Amino acid sequence: MTFLELVNKRHSERAYIENAEIDKNIFLKCLEAARLAPSACNSQPWRFIIVDNLEIKNQIAQTTTTAFLPLNHFTKQASAIVVVVNEGSNLSASVGNVVKDKDFSVMDIGIAVEHFCLQAVEEGLGTCILGWFDEKKIKQILEIPKNKRVELLITLGYPKNDKEKTRRKRKDLEQIYSYNKY
Ligand SMILES: Cc1cc2nc3c(=O)[nH]c(=O)nc-3n(C[C@H](O)[C@H](O)[C@H](O)COP(=O)(O)O)c2cc1C
Repeated sequence: MTFLELVNKRHSERAYIENAEIDKNIFLKCLEAARLAPSACNSQPWRFIIVDNLEIKNQIAQTTTTAFLPLNHFTKQASAIVVVVNEGSNLSASVGNVVKDKDFSVMDIGIAVEHFCLQAVEEGLGTCILGWFDEKKIKQILEIPKNKRVELLITLGYPKNDKEKTRRKRKDLEQIYSYNKY
């Protein structure tokens, strides 16, 4: 697969073969891809908690849904859910955050999460990044310190259907770039 083919293959997978086991070496490869991600001032502000214990995974899945919204009900089928914790910027990135009025750590985590997902796709897994979850409950379940933020979750599992997915529509290329001025 070329890089562009890999990127094209990745999509948000929302139907998994329920609870099929994922080899621990696959997690390690995905973690390695995430570990090599760039970050502001090389801050590396991430920690990945792999939740593959069925009972705990189901508890985490529960925090991603609500009775009233048709959202994230597929998460229970996932074999594992990765909980991505923001460990905070290092000193130089923290100074950068204040001076530039940005939180670079959140950007760093987004990049690392995509590295993780692309490696997972290469391993034949489906992934879905989740931003909608009950952070407080997750922190309780996994004993994450109160001062840390959980930024994203990633569901992982073997896709239920191996049919090629139709890609969710993207803006046309012409809409997203220009040369030399806005
Ligand atoms: C930061 C972020 C948060 C997201 N949160 C959710 C979510 O809570 N539930 C969900 O089903 N998809 C979620 N998604 C997936 C997006 O809906 C999806 O990436 C987008 O629609 C494009 O589709 P594709 O990933 O299949 O290309 C999230 C994606 C990102 C990057």
